Amino acid sequence: MLIRVPPSESDWNLKTTNIEMPSSLYIHIPFCATKCYYCAFNTYSFQKEQAKVYLDALQLEMALYAPKTSPLNTIFVGGGTPSILSANALDKLFADIQKHFRICSNAEITVECNPGTVDSEKLNVMRNAGVDRLSFGLQAMQDETLRQLGRIHTVDEFLQSYLLAREHGFDNINIDLIFALPKQTMDAWQHTLNETISLEPEHISAYNLVMEESTPFYDWWKSGELVLPSEDTEAGMFQWTIETLISHGYTHYEICNYAKPNREVKHNLVYWNNQEYVGLGVGACGYIGGVRYTNIRGIPDYIEALSKHNKPISETEHLTGNAEKAETLMLALRKREGICLEEYEQRFGEKLDVAFGDTLKKWIDLELLERNETHLRLTRRGLFLANEVFVELM
Ligand SMILES: C[S@@+](CC[C@H](N)C(=O)[O-])C[C@H]1O[C@@H](n2cnc3c(N)ncnc32)[C@H](O)[C@@H]1O
Ligand code: SF4
Repeated sequence: MLIRVPPSESDWNLKTTNIEMPSSLYIHIPFCATKCYYCAFNTYSFQKEQAKVYLDALQLEMALYAPKTSPLNTIFVGGGTPSILSANALDKLFADIQKHFRICSNAEITVECNPGTVDSEKLNVMRNAGVDRLSFGLQAMQDETLRQLGRIHTVDEFLQSYLLAREHGFDNINIDLIFALPKQTMDAWQHTLNETISLEPEHISAYNLVMEESTPFYDWWKSGELVLPSEDTEAGMFQWTIETLISHGYTHYEICNYAKPNREVKHNLVYWNNQEYVGLGVGACGYIGGVRYTNIRGIPDYIEALSKHNKPISETEHLTGNAEKAETLMLALRKREGICLEEYEQRFGEKLDVAFGDTLKKWIDLELLERNETHLRLTRRGLFLANEVFVELM
């Protein structure tokens, strides 16, 4: 059940004293040059002055949460477009993080970058701050498609940013792609993926396009202006993606994610393992002491709450009982290895079948799930129908 008031301090303290404190941090930078036509993330057009005030508020939020964390193993600065911040602003952001949090010496620190918004100075700042992983949103390898998506960069600009990052020593890079785009043919998608593979990134995220309400794409699709590939074409693209990336040495370790050996993103594994983490910034979500919280979405309200030294939370949900079990199962099924039956039993003190026996039997009979001695996971067919399985668990 969603409660629309922040929890009292005593609730938080009560919970966090008994359990291990989170060692993962997500920070949301809600600025983009312009909004891509398909995107529903909580982002606003970049204004330098507003970004400055936002970073000050973020620092106040860090101070509120830092005492509730263990030394950080993973930090993910996402957006939005964190790389749209100036080199000075990025420097301040990382100095603030270092001032407030203890960070493990081998921590994974990722920053999301939009091609065309990185330069040598910013890359140096990030390297010096210990950032060891970059994630570039490319989406497609055709200029015309990028224009139709509302992207701010060309393929050449992406290549320049990517190669510059390599020159600056970044040896752990992800590239985001989207398939099943309007009018996209199998040939076009194959060109995008093959060209991406030839750059040898350590990690590739290949998402199928999701039509999000409140985006221009959604309106154009509803009015018939946008024509999407058929479900069969989309499934064919997905199937080909899995086979091609595996044959090039990538492990398919989550529905949309592929990694070279030992390059799985540790931060996202925290989410998929339903472990706790701190989330900071407008609209960010976090999970601490059994409480899942979502921050205020608007920048002025977020800044105002922090100026009064209040946590800028708009919603909380206390995850207990069956809700926690269902979320744990659903998130773990996103991983290709599925859910570890023993870990589930250790966490909840009962076997997975106690809460989900009938549902699981149904999906196993329909060959959407399969289990062995140690794990339950989606079948290859189940990967294509994962949302149907998840909806029933919700
Ligand atoms: C939070 S965005 C940040 C990345 C960065 N701002 C950029 O776009 O270059 C992360 C990724 O989500 C994916 N994404 C965003 N909206 C999507 C949608 N409607 N359907 C599928 N993937 C989407 C894109 O691949 C994007 O790169
Ligand atoms: S896809 Fe990335 S750049 Fe485009 S609006 Fe969304 S967050 Fe911003």
